[in-house]
Amino acid sequence: MDRIRIVGGNELHGVIPISGAKNAALPLMIASLLTDDTLTLENVPHLADVEQLIRILGNHGADISVNGRRERQGESYARTVHFTSRNIVSTTAPYELVSKMRASFWVIGPLLAREGKARVSLPGGCAIGTRPVDLFIEGLAALGANIEIEGGYVNATAPAGGLIGARYVFPKVSVGATHVLMMAATLANGTTVLGNAAREPEVVDLAKCLNAMGAKISGQGTSTVTIEGVRSLSGARHRVLPDRIETGTYAMAVAMAGGDVILEDTEASLLDTALEAIRRAGAQISETNSGIRIVRNGAGIKPVDIVTDPFPGFPTDLQAQFMGLMTRSSGVSHITETIFENRFMHVQELARLGAKISLSGQTAKVEGVSRLKGAPVMATDLRASVSLVIAGLAAEGETMVSRVYHLDRGFERLEEKLTRCGAHVERVSD
Ligand code: UD1
Repeated sequence: MDRIRIVGGNELHGVIPISGAKNAALPLMIASLLTDDTLTLENVPHLADVEQLIRILGNHGADISVNGRRERQGESYARTVHFTSRNIVSTTAPYELVSKMRASFWVIGPLLAREGKARVSLPGGCAIGTRPVDLFIEGLAALGANIEIEGGYVNATAPAGGLIGARYVFPKVSVGATHVLMMAATLANGTTVLGNAAREPEVVDLAKCLNAMGAKISGQGTSTVTIEGVRSLSGARHRVLPDRIETGTYAMAVAMAGGDVILEDTEASLLDTALEAIRRAGAQISETNSGIRIVRNGAGIKPVDIVTDPFPGFPTDLQAQFMGLMTRSSGVSHITETIFENRFMHVQELARLGAKISLSGQTAKVEGVSRLKGAPVMATDLRASVSLVIAGLAAEGETMVSRVYHLDRGFERLEEKLTRCGAHVERVSD
């Protein structure tokens, strides 16, 4: 199994191209099931999760072709992928596939809307909390679906004439449930109004793509999204928005290691709250024509408290990385996680590098230390694993991160992007 070896101490200088967002690409790919026409997505990141979803969509009958020649973009390889689901050959998403990737549960929306039925396995346990699917079920039931849960599967059927537009207010903000309800409502009879909807940029990107396919969605990016049902959707061409989590991760890496880096093909407006926290920690951040410049010279890292929240708050997907940065601050910081109840698994691994962190309920107290020392550590989930890389960049000596398949789910060519900026990071295959 591959491992990542980091020798800390080098500053980062250069350009890092930011890939298309994994968390936008996944729902966009799933939206292709809503039409028998071709949906073409540009700027699709080359990631294990994307490959897995390609397999899952193929199981439902999608014909998928990746541009033979990868479109070279900076030093990254954005790909253009065509999805055509002329016929849905299966409305079942089996346990073997859904348990590998939670987002594949989201096929329930398009399958139910287009075929009138779906049988989708419950996603099962997940390392970062229980992550239930009650909101999906309640929301689809509000659109008239009949839903039964049996033998670990959700069996959903639409009324004879199809789903029916309705008003549904999410009791809790959920990105996934907003994606699914929005997709399902595009083909419903009548108008659906979703209250307390997620406002994440990935939701806006999905709405933009669905509208290009002929949907009538408005209010995306606010907490009330209105979807006027249409009879059918057509094909479209859409460019996946930049990955704000990857952007924030590399910004924190530069803040940690010091240096001067341009993050290319991304937008500061996607992550204002996180960039503000990094600024307060002592880095200078400015917008350039092609992206974001981040600089930190000499001076130490200041302690900053953060609380994760739905967008536009501080993203839970950057919490672990920010904790990595705070391990070297000159004081005490508090990091509070409000989205997922068990998202502190990186704490014990960061401690192996010499970090001083104590947990009390949903809050981690991080007492900055003047030095971290490299050690073998284990990746526990996607974002946790990259926090170990960030810490490793500032640790003395060698940090060896095992179980890097977690990293490969969400970070395209991480070691190459960092190495090109002067970091000592390499993949070791056993
Ligand atoms: C998505 C992202 C994930 C990110 C998260 C929050 C993808 C593939 N994943 O995950 O990276 O960390 O948004 O920005 O895009 N909840 C319920 N019932 C439900 C659904 C959710 O209680 O039916 C809860 C969850 O347990 C969690 C909260 O709502 O506490 C937010 O979940 P949600 O926004 O749905 O996250 P995901 O879509 O799973």
